[in-house]
This record gives sequence, structure tokens and C-alpha cells, in this order.
Amino acid sequence: MKRNYPPRLLVTLLSLPLLAIAGADDGAVKARLVTDDSPETADIRKLGEDAINRLATTLVREVTAAMAKEGPAAAVDSCHLKAVPLTNGTVAGLPRIVAMKRTSLKLRSPANAPDAAEKLVLDHIQQLLDYGDPPPPLLVQRVETPGATPEWRVYKPIGMMPKCLACHGDPEGQPDALRAKLAERYPGDQATGYNTGEWRGLIRVTVADAPSK
Ligand code: HEC
Repeated sequence: MKRNYPPRLLVTLLSLPLLAIAGADDGAVKARLVTDDSPETADIRKLGEDAINRLATTLVREVTAAMAKEGPAAAVDSCHLKAVPLTNGTVAGLPRIVAMKRTSLKLRSPANAPDAAEKLVLDHIQQLLDYGDPPPPLLVQRVETPGATPEWRVYKPIGMMPKCLACHGDPEGQPDALRAKLAERYPGDQATGYNTGEWRGLIRVTVADAPSK
């Protein structure tokens, strides 16, 4: 017998096991998505969101300026948050932001590979997209690693803009100098073939706990 579920309900039902996955315990690392609206979570979310917005603006500005000035091949050297310095372990002007990272399921640089907690979030979002569900604009995660201080992380999924495609779109359309440089630096590059609007990956920041009063 054929049953017709309302599509929305079906998505919800299918998403339930996924939420469990996103909160899985991968042996050493315990990570769960935090969705409550306690004052502490709201505080972490706000700090993370402000920082990510600033980092994302810097990222786009750097890419745009370098492309305009030097062209895409030279821009490969100067792009990508390398201009955001960490001073005394924190981002200037953002004293509670103690780490930041970009990661993806389709990596250009192996140095950006996800750790266990990031992989849970990446897989969670990929599965939501596979079921036709939009990913949340922001995710808050509590990570507990044995022997280490528990960590608050905030993630923002990022999509491809037209200006990103110069380096992440179809390699056939790339100038020879750019294609050669990417091939030389990133031999295992998986981060090509994107279109505008596609999900590219995550920006992640770690927010330090509030100083005890
Ligand atoms: C000038 C070429 C260029 C442009 C334009 C560009 N990227 Fe990249 N992208 C790179 C390079 C090179 C890397 C690897 C950087 C590294 O070594 O960390 C990278 C890495 C990334 C990563 C980290 C994950 C990984 O695969 O290593 C993300 C996320 C990303 N890019 C998103 C974007 C977005 C979003 C845009 C548009 C706003 C964009 N990129 C535009 C060249 C570019």
C-alpha cells in the first residue's frame, strides 16, 4: 500500500535520527548541538555570530581586493583569513574568540580538514540538505574532550557567491596560471565545480567561557 506523507512531516521524521547523529559520542570526543535559549547559550551565540560575521566580511573583502589588484592566480597567496591575526591567542577586538577555522566536506587544503566535532556538524548539514531541508543559519555546539576544558563552538554554514567561483568553480573556465598554481599547491583539491548558492562549508569559532567573577 502506498502512503502519502506530507513532505514536511516526512522531513521532520527523517531528521530525527540525524539530530542524534549530530550529537553522537565519537569515543574520545563528546559533542552535542545546543539549541536551548538559556542566557548562557544566547550569550555564546551572539559572541560567535558577531565574530563570524566580522571574519566573513574580512574574507570576502580580502578575496575581492586581491582579485581586483592582482588577478586570481596571485590572489591565491593573499586570501583567506591569513590577514586576521591572533594576538595573545585571541582575535583583536574579540577577546573571547580563541580559535577560528574554515572547513568543508570537499577540501582544497588538507590543513583545513575537520576534527571529530566539526565532522559531526558537516555531516548533519549535508544530511539536512540531502533531505531538502535548509541548514540552520548558525549552530552552537558544546564539545567535551576527556582531560580538556569543555569548549563552546559556533558554526555558520557558508554558500558560494559568484566571486568565489573564479577559484572554486569549473576548472575549465580558469585562466591557465591560476589552474597551474592551484594544481601545484593543492594536488588533492576537491573544492572545484561549485555553482553560486551551493553550500561550501563552515566557518567555526571557539568562544571562551565567561571569565569567572
Ligand atoms: C583567489 C582564489 C580564491 C577565491 C576567489 C576564493 N577562494 Fe576559497 N580557497 C582558495 C584557496 C587557495 C584555499 C585554500 C586555502 C588554505 O590553504 O587554507 C581556499 C579554501 C577555502 C575554504 C576552506 C576549506 C578548504 O577547502 O580548504 C573555504 C570554506 C573557502 N575557500 C570558501 C570560499 C568562499 C566562500 C569564497 C568566496 C567568498 C572563496 N573561497 C573564494 C582560493 C580562493
